[in-house]
Formats: sequence, C-alpha cells, structure tokens
Amino acid sequence: MSRSRLIEEAQTARNRAYAQYSNFHVGAAVETADGKIYTGCNIENASYSLTICAERTALFTAVAAGERHFNHLVVATENGVSPCGACRQVIWELCGDISITIVDEAGNARETSASELLPQAFCQQDLGS
Ligand code: THU
Repeated sequence: MSRSRLIEEAQTARNRAYAQYSNFHVGAAVETADGKIYTGCNIENASYSLTICAERTALFTAVAAGERHFNHLVVATENGVSPCGACRQVIWELCGDISITIVDEAGNARETSASELLPQAFCQQDLGS
C-alpha cells in the first residue's frame, strides 16, 4: 500500500466527519500488516464529552473487524496538528510504536511515531503480573 494512497484515504474520511459543534474535521486511515485499510472520522455529540476522535474511530473499527497488527497510521486535519492525548494512549495500546503521518489539507505531510508522541507511555507491563 503506497503512503500517498493511505493519505488520500484519510483525507477522504475527513470529509465524512460529523463535527457540527467544533467544525474541526479530522480523518484517519490505518493500514494493517496485511495491507488492508480502515478509516475513521471524528463523530461529535450534543453531549460534547461523548465525541470520538477520528483516530479512535479508525482503530476501534479495525479491531472490531478482527485486526490486531498495524503498519502505519495517517491523521488528516485542516492544519496538520498532532493527535490528542487520549488518542496517543489508544494508538500505543493497539499499535505499539507505529509510524504516523500527519497531513494538512494542502497535503503537507510530516512523519512521527507513537513513541515520539507519547514518551514513557503507560502500558500493559506497568500493571505487573
Ligand atoms: N479530534 C480528533 O478527531 N482527533 C484528535 O486527535 C484531536 C481532536 C476531534 C475531536 C473533536 O470532534 C474535534 O476534533 C475538536 O476537538
């Protein structure tokens, strides 16, 4: 799967954002180890705290479909901002130290990783035996 195709998928998913409260539209696309793509967008709610971010929509959809191994994640916003803290924790949980592309509306992309976004992450091993 080419990186540009995954970026396109995230940008297309962004068009499906349900974001009438913030008007901040986010799309995400995750590629599985065997090359499948799952996408997500943010979905807001009049009860604001029930909102789910695009990254979690994509990852939860993939996991619910039986996926466990991920290669790469793309996050698309208007201005190329980084994922929120809650999503960083979920990305770490489900993807480990995955590579991540962050892209803006104009297609400017930058590369990062889960460990760069969330150093010293809390994880399963921290729970002990
Ligand atoms: N949002 C995401 O979808 N992903 C993030 O990583 C940051 C925030 C959404 C949530 C909400 O719908 C809107 O952006 C404004 O916070």
